[in-house]
Amino acid sequence: MSSDSAVVARAALATSAGQNLCVVGLQWGDEGKGKIVDVLTEQFDIVARYQGGGNAGHTVVIGSDKFVLHLIPSGILHSGKDCVIGNGVVIDPEQLMSEVTELRERGIEVGRNLHISDRAHVVFPYHKRLDELDGRKAEGRRIGTTGRGIGPCYSDKMARTGIRVAELYDREQLRERLKQNVEEKNRLLVKVHGLEPMDWKPIYDDYVRYAEQMREFVGDTISFLNDAAKKGKRILFEGAQGVMLDVDFGTYPFISSSNASPSGVAAGTGISPKLIGRVIGVAKAYCTRVGEGPFPTELKGKLGELLRERGGEYGATTGRPRRCGWFDAVAVRYAITVGGVDALALTKLDVLTGQKKLAVCVAYRCDGRTVEEIPAGASELAKCEPVYEELPGWDADIAACESFEELPPEAKQFMRKIEAVLGVPVEMLSIGEDRNQLVQRTVGSS
Ligand code: IMP
Repeated sequence: MSSDSAVVARAALATSAGQNLCVVGLQWGDEGKGKIVDVLTEQFDIVARYQGGGNAGHTVVIGSDKFVLHLIPSGILHSGKDCVIGNGVVIDPEQLMSEVTELRERGIEVGRNLHISDRAHVVFPYHKRLDELDGRKAEGRRIGTTGRGIGPCYSDKMARTGIRVAELYDREQLRERLKQNVEEKNRLLVKVHGLEPMDWKPIYDDYVRYAEQMREFVGDTISFLNDAAKKGKRILFEGAQGVMLDVDFGTYPFISSSNASPSGVAAGTGISPKLIGRVIGVAKAYCTRVGEGPFPTELKGKLGELLRERGGEYGATTGRPRRCGWFDAVAVRYAITVGGVDALALTKLDVLTGQKKLAVCVAYRCDGRTVEEIPAGASELAKCEPVYEELPGWDADIAACESFEELPPEAKQFMRKIEAVLGVPVEMLSIGEDRNQLVQRTVGSS
């Protein structure tokens, strides 16, 4: 095999036998994880989500069929695989059931293959109502959330006022907890924000109904996953959002409210951290972000618009246009460190086709200093100017390439530059929307 030898990826990514794997986004979400997870699922028995909620939007294209999943792991599209929504996820039952219905209507089996943690927290309408208030905040304080109630639901979890899936089945307790919670939220909605109060009873009735609809999926996913691991079954942990949106490691406060990095796997599934195994980090060949927050490599002019149009960069959950910019190796290098990333899947390389010059941000200039680490403070990061290394672009259409060797030399050079600045090999290259438009590079090739 030549040093650049590669094979089309459908079949096998080099994961050592018996290992579990975490697939995680290394930027601000929307890296194309859905497709990578979808392709890798064949090698695993179980796909488990460990954090986030209906804010995620995983798009998978199979032939002419496009599936956008928000809560259910994309592993559901493969028959014979078990899918787990772990205790670290926050579940909006209305959203969940509408996904179940849509999948079933499109001929996808959803039944004994879906396992929902009885310890997962539940998103209620008051969470969404409170989340909407984010949009009214003054500039600088607005996060630009997806409005799916994620932050308020995780806030209740930490404040110990949340309601978990198991509690939906204890009607007495549900009634009491819901009454208390709605009363408390009404104080905020009415007195602080001057909005209409909410009524607990219709919410109670809806959630009792949802609970019955969900019942067949709900159970002890911690035992399920640990028993499966003991039996040697292989688990793929599917991250939502990305490390730069992680509540601890992201660009706080412009982040989502969960641990999107692999650190969230153990807490969000009940699996020992020792069982995580390998980590594949997914990064786009450029960079996008939705919502507010610092973005040093953002391209505000025509080039940013071009990337948005060519890359179809509109939010899968909210339809919002994504902000676009050059690849930020400073941010991704940091995400690799905190995520313990072993190898990369570089996605949407085809979107860069036709650019005369490409750029990779290798450092920041901040207050007259050159820094190679991402600063903790959002205001400091907002002041950082990118230091770019320029590379030549390519014109040839790469969407049909079946091997690494077939790529134009400039595309190989771009990818090698990324590997060199990050210190991690690129094992997979995505060159189009479809499942098959994926090239695998043999580990260790130069
Ligand atoms: P939240 O998760 O809805 O609270 O939103 C917090 C921030 O995370 C906002 O900037 C959102 O745009 C961003 N965000 C949340 N989920 C995703 C995602 O799946 N992809 C990209 N950005 C996301």
